[in-house]
Amino acid sequence: MDYGNTDLLSPDLTGIARAAQLLAEGQLVGLPTETVYGLAGDATSDMACARIFEAKGRPRFNPLIVHLPSIEAAERIAILTGTAHDLAAAFWPGPLTMVLPLRNGHGLSPLVTAGLDTVAVRLPAHPLMRGVMEAFGRPIAAPSANPSGRISPTTAEHVLNGLGGRIAAVLDGGPCGVGLESTILAPADAGTRLLREGGLPREAIEPLTGPLVTDTTPGKVQAPGQLSSHYAPRALVRLNSPLTDLNAIRVGFGPCNADLTLSASGDLIEAAANLFSTLHAADDLARRKHAAEIHIAPIPDKGLGRAINDRLTRAAAPR
Ligand code: TXA
Ligand code: MG
Repeated sequence: MDYGNTDLLSPDLTGIARAAQLLAEGQLVGLPTETVYGLAGDATSDMACARIFEAKGRPRFNPLIVHLPSIEAAERIAILTGTAHDLAAAFWPGPLTMVLPLRNGHGLSPLVTAGLDTVAVRLPAHPLMRGVMEAFGRPIAAPSANPSGRISPTTAEHVLNGLGGRIAAVLDGGPCGVGLESTILAPADAGTRLLREGGLPREAIEPLTGPLVTDTTPGKVQAPGQLSSHYAPRALVRLNSPLTDLNAIRVGFGPCNADLTLSASGDLIEAAANLFSTLHAADDLARRKHAAEIHIAPIPDKGLGRAINDRLTRAAAPR
């Protein structure tokens, strides 16, 4: 496969230093996080942020998540109130993004926030990502490293397949541990809103925040994860399938006959980690076998199963 001039960087100090250097030059680098790979650029540079939108083919109105190494660094760009502090103490670093009011003098490119007076902030836990954040020293803007509307990448190879030739490099961290994007919350002392289900399940959050308010007002799109046709393979996706159609590519969960499985033992954490890889693999298999459809077994709608079903529903949405 020819990935143009996109370099694959090794998961060591040399790779981290090179990634930080490319970011300082305003270039784009695919970086591993514990959720999915990010398409990273300097969040203070208009040029770098414009390149992110261009490389993804992303609609301009979608703001970007800013990645930082510490709560102190987050407080330099955003204002954390009581609930935000509680959530940060409990879940950062980890698969949680918080939408917070911008702080004066934040220094971010206006392209990052798409002109909003809030900013989405996340402290990733992945050691390579943390190494790059510390070496680079400035906030990093990073949407998922896939072309807009396509499946999110959970390996360096997925990033190269989608964006090879359009970005300077990918830091190879192997497969992502969580496998689903971060959960996005808008914390408020009067009631925290859930903007996107993700790698941190609702059951872990609600003991701290009280019941989350789900914000899915149609037309009031807060997060591109809320656009209906998202995470889409090329083949048609059908959900809650009994997996009886042998002409389709069949994706199982738990004990069943299938071409591929999210988790043979029916484990939701394993299914989350495998979700995007399995969708990539199912789509490749559909192409090779000339199958028009991908059929997926039912997934229990609890814990990480809700975020999995959210992504699958979008993958199956008409387009
Ligand atoms: O796990 C993740 O969150 C990954 C890794 C790379 O960190 N990133 C990711 O980014 O999924 P992206 O760009 O694909 O999704 C970011 C989401 C979008 O749905 C965007 O609309 C929302 O964050 N967002 C960003 N800023 C926002 C804001 N100020 N208000 C509401 N939503 C915001
Ligand atoms: Mg995305």
